[in-house]
Amino acid sequence: MCGIIGFTGRTEAVPKLLDGLERLEYRGYDSAGVAVVSENGRLQVKKSKGRLSVLRELLDSQQPLSGNVGIGHTRWATHGEPNDTNAHPHVGQEGKIAVVHNGIIENYQEIKQSLIRKGITFSSDTDTEVIVQLLEYYYKKNENLMDAVYAVLNRIKGAYAMGILCSDHPRQMIAARKDAPLLIGYGKGENYIASDVTALLSHTRTVTYMEDGEVAVIAADQVQIFDRDRFQLEKEKHSIEWDVSAAEKCGYSHFMLKEIMEQPEAVRKTISPRLVNREIVLEELNDAKELMKNISRIYIVACGSAYHVGMVGKYAWEKLLHIPVEACLASEFRYSEPLLGESSLVIVISQSGETLDSMAALREAKRKGSKVLSIVNVMGSSIARESDYVLYTWAGPEIAVATTKAYTTQMVLLLMLGNYLTKQLNRIEQDEYAAIIRELQSLPEKISVILNNLEHYQKTAANYFNHNSIFYIGRNLDYALGLEGSLKLKEKSLSNIVEVKSRGAEVIALTTELTVNQIGSQASEMFVIPKTHLLLQPVLGVIPLQLFAYYVALNRGCDIDKPRNLAKSVTVE
Ligand code: F6R
Repeated sequence: MCGIIGFTGRTEAVPKLLDGLERLEYRGYDSAGVAVVSENGRLQVKKSKGRLSVLRELLDSQQPLSGNVGIGHTRWATHGEPNDTNAHPHVGQEGKIAVVHNGIIENYQEIKQSLIRKGITFSSDTDTEVIVQLLEYYYKKNENLMDAVYAVLNRIKGAYAMGILCSDHPRQMIAARKDAPLLIGYGKGENYIASDVTALLSHTRTVTYMEDGEVAVIAADQVQIFDRDRFQLEKEKHSIEWDVSAAEKCGYSHFMLKEIMEQPEAVRKTISPRLVNREIVLEELNDAKELMKNISRIYIVACGSAYHVGMVGKYAWEKLLHIPVEACLASEFRYSEPLLGESSLVIVISQSGETLDSMAALREAKRKGSKVLSIVNVMGSSIARESDYVLYTWAGPEIAVATTKAYTTQMVLLLMLGNYLTKQLNRIEQDEYAAIIRELQSLPEKISVILNNLEHYQKTAANYFNHNSIFYIGRNLDYALGLEGSLKLKEKSLSNIVEVKSRGAEVIALTTELTVNQIGSQASEMFVIPKTHLLLQPVLGVIPLQLFAYYVALNRGCDIDKPRNLAKSVTVE
C-alpha cells in the first residue's frame, strides 16, 4: 500500500529518494515525505499532504536538505486522515529519530497511552508515531540504537516494514520487517531499502529480501542483517531481471495503456518457455502426478481482479479436471472455515505477491495441511516465498493501479496449469489437448490483432463516455466468464440484449468472429475478438474491455494510473 525507500551512499540522498518515491507513488499517494541526516548529525524532515509533486515543489522552494543517508515514504492513509502531520517520516519528540512505516501497529493505543503517561507528547493520529516515540524513549535510556530497536520490536504487535534514521548515526539506516514487504538493494558504494523492487531498478538489480523478524543495519559499504535473536545472517542475494524501461512510460501517456499494449509480449513470455515440443512443461511442478493423487478439492483464492481470474479458472478447471473447484475471495476465505486438509490443493493468485488477505489465506491453508501453489508476478514476493510451488507470470512490473497484463497472464497461466494437470492425470483427449496447445501458441498474435484496432475503441468510448451507467451483461459470475459461456448460451444472451434494448439501452456487444452475425443485428457497437478455443476466450475477451475502460476514463478526464481511493495491492488489513 504505502511505499518506502531508503538510501545511504556518498551522494546527496534527496534526489535518490524522490526518484524512488516517484516509482512507488502507485502504492499510495495521500502524502509523501523524506528525512535525511547530514554529516554533522542534523536530522531534517520535509513532508506534505498530496502527491509527490507537492513535496517536490516544497523542497524546491526551500533550502535544500543535505545528507548522504535518508528515508522516504509515500502514504496510503489507514490510521489518521491524509494531512501534513500524519504524513511520514515521523520524528520523536527529542528530534533524534525518524521512522517510515508500512503496515499497522495493532497495540498502538495501549503503547501511546503508556508513553503519554510518561510525559511524551504525540503530534499525529497515526499508529506509526508510537514506533518512533517508543524508540526514542528506549534509546534515551542507554543510547544503544540496536538495543532500542529490538526492544520496540518486542513490544509492538502487528505488521511492519520500517526504515529508521538516527541523528547520532549519520552514516547508516536501520530496516526491520514483519508481514510487510521490504528488500535491500546493493549498489556500488551505496545501498538501498525499498518496499518494492520497482523503486530500485534504475540503481541496482541485486537485492536481498528481508524475512519476518529480521533487522538490517545498512551503511554505504556494508549491510548487516540480523535475525530476531540478534544473530548475524548470511543472506542470499538475488538478481532482478526486469529492466528499467519496464517501469517507465516509454512515450505512452499512461502506464495503463503501455501495459495493455505490452500484453502480446507478456503473454508470450508466460507461455513460450512452458511449451516444449507441443507439450505444456511446468518444471516448477514436476511431481504433479504425485501431488494430484489424493486431491479431491481445489480452492482458488485471490483478491480483486485476480479473484475474477479464479472464477474463470473454476469454470475451466471443473470442466477439465472433474474435481470440485471453488473460487474464493481471500478476504472471506479465513472466516468461512474452508474444508482444508491434505486432500485439498489451494491455488493463490496475486500480481504483487503481497496482498495481505491472500497471504493470510495461504498461511491458513498450510497450517491445515494443504499444499499451496501460487501464481505470482513479482519474483521473491512473500506469497511466492511461502508457497510450496510457484508459477511466475513473468509479465514484468505492473505500475498502473488497474491491472491489465498481470490479469491476462494470470489467466493464461491458470488455464495452462489446468490443462497440464489434466494431461498428467490422463483426463484429456489428445485431439483436444493438441487444439488447446495450438491456440495457446497463437494467443499473442491474436491479442495483437485486437490491439491493432485502437481507433475503434477510442471512437466507441468517445460515444459512450458520458453515459451515466454502463452495465456488463454476461452469463456466470464475471464478464469474462460470461463470455466463455456465451457460445453455448448465445440465444439466451441474445434475448437479454433484446430486453435491454427494449428499455432504451444501447448495446455494445463483445463477441467472437463466429457469432458476429447473430449478435450484430441487435447491437449498436461491436467488439469482435478472433476465434479461439472456448477455454481461452476470456484471455482475448478482456482486451477490448480494458481498452474501452481506458478510453472512457481518458474522455472523462480521470486520473488513469492512480484512480481516486484505490490502491494497487492491499497489504494491510
Ligand atoms: C484491480 C486490481 C486489484 C488487484 C487486487 C489483488 O485492477 O489491480 O483488484 O487485482 O488488489 O492484488 P494482487 O494481485 O497484487 O494480489
